[in-house]
Amino acid sequence: MIEFELNGQKVSVDADPNTPLLWAIRDEIGLTGTKFGCGIGACGACTVHIDGTAQRSCITYLSDVAGLQVTTIEGLDEKGAHPVQEAWRNLRVPQCGYCQSGQIMQAASLLKDTPSPSDDDIDAVMSGNLCRCMTYTRIRQAVRDAATAMKGSAND
Ligand code: FES
Ligand code: FES
Repeated sequence: MIEFELNGQKVSVDADPNTPLLWAIRDEIGLTGTKFGCGIGACGACTVHIDGTAQRSCITYLSDVAGLQVTTIEGLDEKGAHPVQEAWRNLRVPQCGYCQSGQIMQAASLLKDTPSPSDDDIDAVMSGNLCRCMTYTRIRQAVRDAATAMKGSAND
């Protein structure tokens, strides 16, 4: 039994400790917002936060998160109104949507660590999150817009 915190709630998962966290989240717990893309840490579709930092859940073992805090897209903001989510909605970033929860989780982590990212900062961090629909231009603008919104709310 592996215990950790998921989106602010304590959870216990009775599964092989070597189960990828992605499958524990999707199949054992039933939260399907986190997506499977490649399974080898190369596409970013499965990105979640572990203790506040973006990580690939497909290459993280369940045992690695024992006692830690995991956040998925469902828990990023209880109303789905994180500034990154608002910026994504305003710019209608998604196309098919498959990669987008990973993109949003990666962008939220970027802005926590780097509140005023340059375009180079954005590209460096977001380049590991692939989008087969090529929404990269809107993603970059949405990250910029979210950064501006977050700065504005910090100054309120
Ligand atoms: S599914 Fe995890 S990085 Fe692609
Ligand atoms: S929106 Fe379709 S893969 Fe990114």
